[in-house]
Amino acid sequence: MAKKMAIGVDIGGTGIKAALVDVKNGEMIGERVRVETPEGGSTDDIIATVKNLIKKLPDASSKTPIGICFPAVVQHGVTMSAANISKKWIGFDADAAFTKALSRDVHLVNDADAAGLAEMRFGAGRAERGLVIMTTLGTGIGSALFFDQTLIPNAELGHLEIDGVDYESMASFAAKERDGLTWEEWAVRLQKYYSTLQRLFTPEMIIVGGGVSKDHEKFLPLLDIKCEIVPAEMRNNAGILGAARLAYRLANRN
Ligand code: BGC
Repeated sequence: MAKKMAIGVDIGGTGIKAALVDVKNGEMIGERVRVETPEGGSTDDIIATVKNLIKKLPDASSKTPIGICFPAVVQHGVTMSAANISKKWIGFDADAAFTKALSRDVHLVNDADAAGLAEMRFGAGRAERGLVIMTTLGTGIGSALFFDQTLIPNAELGHLEIDGVDYESMASFAAKERDGLTWEEWAVRLQKYYSTLQRLFTPEMIIVGGGVSKDHEKFLPLLDIKCEIVPAEMRNNAGILGAARLAYRLANRN
């Protein structure tokens, strides 16, 4: 039987990554490709970069749907915010622009929502019921809410205000790097962030993703949170896998 395939693209502040994905088992087919995000991150430059990038992927028919995850609120295909990217994306019909440029089905989704979809299907949240909060620690803090496996899109819990500041500016991985924090020092901020999530939402489980989740042993054991708090299993490819799977499902829903 032919493989069920889609392309996943993960647009971030520093890099753009893409891979062809077998959406049934959540595995990449061939190598993942990556380029630097163009300086300034304008809409035209990013669209042109994605177009070139997907040409480097293993043979996927020109009809293969593409899922693109993006670090902003995405509602009805329109990018609605821009915390760590060019402000030109605010109010931009990205879905329509990518669909035109790539001449096929394209679906845009928030990056943390995409990563969460992959974790809930293939990773740490498999078969988990009730409220699960996925978080990604990177340039910012991404979040995704799931209840009984259903995504409640565009939760922006990285921007929770704690101690009078937008707390992604304190507890993201970029903040750790910027302030030269040790794992222990960073864990103090993470403790404050995750205990606030716990207090406000009483989740069954919190999943911690983002590139730094590969080093989870250095900081997760330092946290004392009432609910289960676990590392993401799909690591840094979760966005690609989740975006690809969503695009495949939406392209084949009829
Ligand atoms: C953005 C979110 C995004 C997260 C991770 C935040 O600054 O507001 O939309 O999911 O960064 O990239």
